[in-house]
Amino acid sequence: MDIFDMPPATPHTVSEGLHWAFRSSRVLHVATELDLFTRLTDGPLSAAEIAAVCGADAAETEKLVICCCALGLLRKTDGRYSNTQAAEDYLVRGAPLYQGNMIAHAEHLWQFWSGLGDVVRTGDRGASGPPGGGDGHRDFILAMHNTSITGPARMVAENVDLSGARRLLDIGGGPGTFSIALCQKHAGLTADLFDRPATLEVAREVIERFGMADRIRLVEGDWDQEDYGDGYDAALFSNVLHGAASGAPEKLRKGFEALNEGGQVVVHDFLLNNQKTGPLGAALFGMMVGAYSTDEMCAVVEAAGFVEVRLVAVNERGAGVVVGRKP
Ligand SMILES: C[S@@+](CC[C@H](N)C(=O)[O-])C[C@H]1O[C@@H](n2cnc3c(N)ncnc32)[C@H](O)[C@@H]1O
Repeated sequence: MDIFDMPPATPHTVSEGLHWAFRSSRVLHVATELDLFTRLTDGPLSAAEIAAVCGADAAETEKLVICCCALGLLRKTDGRYSNTQAAEDYLVRGAPLYQGNMIAHAEHLWQFWSGLGDVVRTGDRGASGPPGGGDGHRDFILAMHNTSITGPARMVAENVDLSGARRLLDIGGGPGTFSIALCQKHAGLTADLFDRPATLEVAREVIERFGMADRIRLVEGDWDQEDYGDGYDAALFSNVLHGAASGAPEKLRKGFEALNEGGQVVVHDFLLNNQKTGPLGAALFGMMVGAYSTDEMCAVVEAAGFVEVRLVAVNERGAGVVVGRKP
């Protein structure tokens, strides 16, 4: 075999970009953990000044900011670094589209991905779910807000017709972003956000920030232990029916009971295509947590008693919206 007869480029799936992609991810995790981008909002700083304000090592910080430049997150002018527009929009604390909690959440989940080989070999997922408390839980819940605010909340609100509905039940509503979007779309709608106490503390902040505290009520509950009440016109299950291990049939049964006749069920979740070959966002989420295909999700919703069950929207990452009606 002659080296000069080899093809010049490797195919995408084995290219450097993919098998080394974690290096870029780790740079972003650590830069965000240091809150580097927020620290640059008062003006450009040298690498040594950045290291000083971050309490970090000067030489290693310089390597980190060089990586951030190469990733398009920082620019360097006259020896000082400043944020690019992308960093200003998504990586500065307090920006409306801030993604820092999702990045922190991804860093918490790094352990699961690092141990993926053992998971696949043994089938033992260990404690692979979202972190159970403290800052980890807060990041997890705000991560849900970070991601929904960039499109999914709008996708649900624009593709689900809740005109005429007065009471929405948002089961495992997290930060409340979907309830906020639906209440903003429908002036006559109020929502009950059913979730655990630690999550509701975070939801309260988000809901107040959007001025929706008079329309969205916080309801403490455990979906495994309690029923969901009654008299609702719509029930939302967003990112809580993640495949076969999620207890979806029982949650949907309780949702069915909570609805008035004619009430709507709305499911928003990652959905694999029916061949189970992607999309990549749904496939990777399925690896980490679990995911139904679209047909499987529709079948589990129908099995709970709902009719007219159908997919009404899906985005490029594989997050889809399924609706149905209680007869
Ligand atoms: C992946 S988040 C989804 C949040 C929100 N629905 C969204 O899409 O942005 C899952 C939510 O389920 C809540 N949750 C987990 N276990 C629960 C339980 N046993 N009872 C009620 N809520 C629970 C979590 O607190 C979290 O808010």
